[in-house]
Amino acid sequence: MGAGLGSATEALLDELAARDAVGRIAAYRATEPVPLFSRRAQRILTALHPGVPLAFGSLNVNDPWGAQGVAAGSQDLVWGVNVFHLARDLDAVLREAHAALAGGGWLVVAEGMRPSATDVVGAEFPFRLLESFTDVRLDPTTRPTSGFLTAEHWLAALARTGFGDVAVVPQHLGLMDELSVRENVEYPARLARCLEDRRDLIEDLLERLGLAGMQHRPPTETSLGEQQRTAVARAVVLAPSLLVADEPTAHQDARRVER
Ligand SMILES: C[S@@+](CC[C@H](N)C(=O)[O-])C[C@H]1O[C@@H](n2cnc3c(N)ncnc32)[C@H](O)[C@@H]1O
Repeated sequence: MGAGLGSATEALLDELAARDAVGRIAAYRATEPVPLFSRRAQRILTALHPGVPLAFGSLNVNDPWGAQGVAAGSQDLVWGVNVFHLARDLDAVLREAHAALAGGGWLVVAEGMRPSATDVVGAEFPFRLLESFTDVRLDPTTRPTSGFLTAEHWLAALARTGFGDVAVVPQHLGLMDELSVRENVEYPARLARCLEDRRDLIEDLLERLGLAGMQHRPPTETSLGEQQRTAVARAVVLAPSLLVADEPTAHQDARRVER
């Protein structure tokens, strides 16, 4: 979505190429409403990744996606880098993305964020000259300003539109090496601004999953089994309704699996 001159698409394709995975792309549609940007992205990306089944076209996230060739349940990945904050009606656009995804599909939203609703970050200043940046439907609680949102507003918007209540334990655990085991577990609660409410649960999880003794170490200094349990604790810290876990006991001994 909002592929612009193609830099986010290029980064993704480069990353997949480095993992020898571009061959698994069945179809990739880079959409951008400004024809000049789209043509430039097409020129660059087809030269860089000639074997990838890329298509280029226009899509305005604010208009119904089905009428723009994105059938419901058809996409494995919907993603945009600094695009979704431009949605005129954020909830409506996130619902369109939800409808577009196939079961198990991913919405990846990479966005600049504000520390608080009133703190405009520097990157926003030039964009504020653009009508698309400021012409959004505001709501005193859910969308108090145009421009970038806070983490809190994003999480609330995702929860309202069907994305919020699912947590994942991926097979590649995605722990942050620069944080300690405890900080990794705390991270979703910190982002959702509910760390204090979750204190007891966090202590309990660290204890019950046998992580208390290494909670201040970085994940790289723990065993694979401990890293896996850290990812499980991180996934349940917000008490999701649905937990999607990809072989979460693969590195656990029988006693741990049982527990
Ligand atoms: C900050 S740029 C992001 C560019 C791009 N993601 C990249 O990686 O370079 C925002 C892009 O969103 C596009 N855009 C603006 N309004 C849009 C809308 N309603 N629907 C889809 N894209 C939109 C703009 O044309 C612009 O290319």
